[in-house]
Amino acid sequence: MNTTPSTAELIAGRQPGHSLPRDLYCGEQTFRDDLEQIWYREWLFAGPASALPKTGSYITMQVGDYPVILTRGADGRIRAFHNVCRHRGQRLCSKASGTNPKLVCPYHQWTYDLDGKLLYARDMGEGFDAAKYGLKTVHCVDLGGMVFICLAKVPPAINDLAPQLMRYLAPTDLAKTKIAQVSTIIENGNWKLVIENNRECYHCGGSHPSLCRTYSDDPSMTAMEGPHAASPEILAHWERCEAANLPSRFVNHPAMQWRLARIPLLNHAESYTLDGKKAVSRRLGQMPFDDAGSLLFFHYPNTWNHFLADHSIVFRVLPVSPTETQVTTWWLVHPDAVEGTDYDLENLTHVWMHTNDEDRLVVEENQAGILSPAYEPGPYSPLQEEGVLQFVDWYCQTMADRLTPTRIAAE
Ligand code: FES
Ligand SMILES: [Fe+2]
Repeated sequence: MNTTPSTAELIAGRQPGHSLPRDLYCGEQTFRDDLEQIWYREWLFAGPASALPKTGSYITMQVGDYPVILTRGADGRIRAFHNVCRHRGQRLCSKASGTNPKLVCPYHQWTYDLDGKLLYARDMGEGFDAAKYGLKTVHCVDLGGMVFICLAKVPPAINDLAPQLMRYLAPTDLAKTKIAQVSTIIENGNWKLVIENNRECYHCGGSHPSLCRTYSDDPSMTAMEGPHAASPEILAHWERCEAANLPSRFVNHPAMQWRLARIPLLNHAESYTLDGKKAVSRRLGQMPFDDAGSLLFFHYPNTWNHFLADHSIVFRVLPVSPTETQVTTWWLVHPDAVEGTDYDLENLTHVWMHTNDEDRLVVEENQAGILSPAYEPGPYSPLQEEGVLQFVDWYCQTMADRLTPTRIAAE
């Protein structure tokens, strides 16, 4: 008899308020369950629309077993497809991004239009109906410059998020920004450890010397209760921002799958730079002042973001294996900002390049400790790790609702 507990049993037996049992962070079966129940069912952040600046631009992503490609068509629309040729299944495009007038399969050159239609297939004989072999589509929405995909046949509702995200992003003109830099790293840790690490700043003082020059590690800044827990400083910031038409107050999904809030940086810092001064001389969109702080946006399972007056930093998380996670970061600036004139690339990217690497290290060390048979779940700080508690509860509730505890049922 198989005595390995199932994911559902591990979740049912977990101790609330504590980190998760070991196998939820490294087990092969849980990784498959996470893919099936979350990654193949939820809306996932694919990238900023400005990563696809013109007709023929594309980006690719790998979600578990599914290679996906996003293209911008001649009509300006961004679409997502399974990155799989309809002839014999070759992956159409292996690069992370680029520009192509058409999508040409490298194997036998079947050629698809940017809207997925099959345009050309050599020597397929009489009666071959190209209309039957268009690329398979993946659900795709562009919410004010943030592009999401969903692999499910019927995606979950996104109409609660869409108007709020578009309203909060509008002053940044995010869709019209340009990419100043993109970085992709692999963290040797489970995707949930990557998200947990992002959802608290308990570790910031010990790990992020450059980020802590401008970003407050005071948990009341990002407390889940929002206005009830907010300090006078944050309330004053919201009033000032909203008087200048910058949506700022906490809004969130009822189950906290996503949240938006604008927080001030330390000492009226303007940007995530070592001296706290803006990194880009041209403000984004209609941002009314330099010290607008950071608009924070997370959406489970795979994105957190910072939208500042002078630039935006957007993050995409993708699971690679039980103990490997890919994190891609884009830095977005005003479309007319010129490198070397309006910004220095090293200055713009320094803090978050270092912060990402520091987070990679703590996630990898966290995973290394959890892999020990001596690991046992420990208590989260209710004051400092409210965001982690909330993420773990969201994860466990979502999985428990979707998984049938088959072994229990069979007994
Ligand atoms: S597999 Fe793509 S053209 Fe043959
Ligand atoms: Fe961190």
